Amino acid sequence: MTNLIDGRAFAREVHVETSVRVSNLLQRGIRPGLLFIRVGEDPASQVYVGMKERKAAELGIHSETRVLPSTTSEPELLALLDEANQDPRWHGILVQAPVPAGIEATRVFAHVDPRKDVDGFHPLNAGRLLLGELGGFIPCTPGGVQELLFRSGTTLSGAEVVILGRGNIVGKPLASLLIQRGTRANCTVTIVHSATRDIRAHCQRADILIAAMGSPEFVRKDMVKPGAVVIDVGVNRIPDPSTGGTRLVGDVAFAEVQPIAGKITPNPGGVGPMTIAMLMANTVKAAEQLTA
Ligand code: GUN
Repeated sequence: MTNLIDGRAFAREVHVETSVRVSNLLQRGIRPGLLFIRVGEDPASQVYVGMKERKAAELGIHSETRVLPSTTSEPELLALLDEANQDPRWHGILVQAPVPAGIEATRVFAHVDPRKDVDGFHPLNAGRLLLGELGGFIPCTPGGVQELLFRSGTTLSGAEVVILGRGNIVGKPLASLLIQRGTRANCTVTIVHSATRDIRAHCQRADILIAAMGSPEFVRKDMVKPGAVVIDVGVNRIPDPSTGGTRLVGDVAFAEVQPIAGKITPNPGGVGPMTIAMLMANTVKAAEQLTA
């Protein structure tokens, strides 16, 4: 029997649920709309936004991408957000990170109307998440990790969770989510980071180990408790001497960790598809709430 957590299959389940909600909106004459804003030509961002656009189209969500040059100033980007915040076609607005140097991402995220903040990065939504309020938006990758854990039958209540990485997009919001009361949470969470004294000792106690620090194949088998559930959020491009080109690897040394893990996400095919599924679900939630 495989121990893989099939992110594509679980994402399909979420998409089925989302498309029912899209149909209900369409019946009321409302087409959910999602605006992507991409600044500069970061190759990974081009790929990610392209994947999100395709999935939106498949589900009947109207989307559009505004591509701005890397020379765009912060006031110009904020002015575009003012316009999009006012535009009733857009229920969701997503500014793809990273943004070029000279633009402060936190100020940009805080400028998105919190009701359209399908990324969940606005301080109001971050605060709601911390307070355990249900009306806000949960960031897509943390929400997707929680969904994968729950749908794969992983016991969350009382579990020792160790998250590697304290970023605003994954580590911090994921910790906020998993410490809440509730059947999909109730975990004891430790965040380890670059200043943590003995990272391996923390990892070895984890029932659920989540790698989200962006360090290629950092998690080795001697850091994983046998039977632990391992979630790999990392996407790292590294040189590939065999081809002279590059290849993508996660934050987990998959080949050596899979045999001892209880369950593990493949990468690709684990967290990525579920992140997109959560974005689509958040967009539909925004459309429902804005038109209620
Ligand atoms: N860059 C990497 N992950 C994300 C995400 O979830 N949202 C946005 N907007 N940018 C990202």
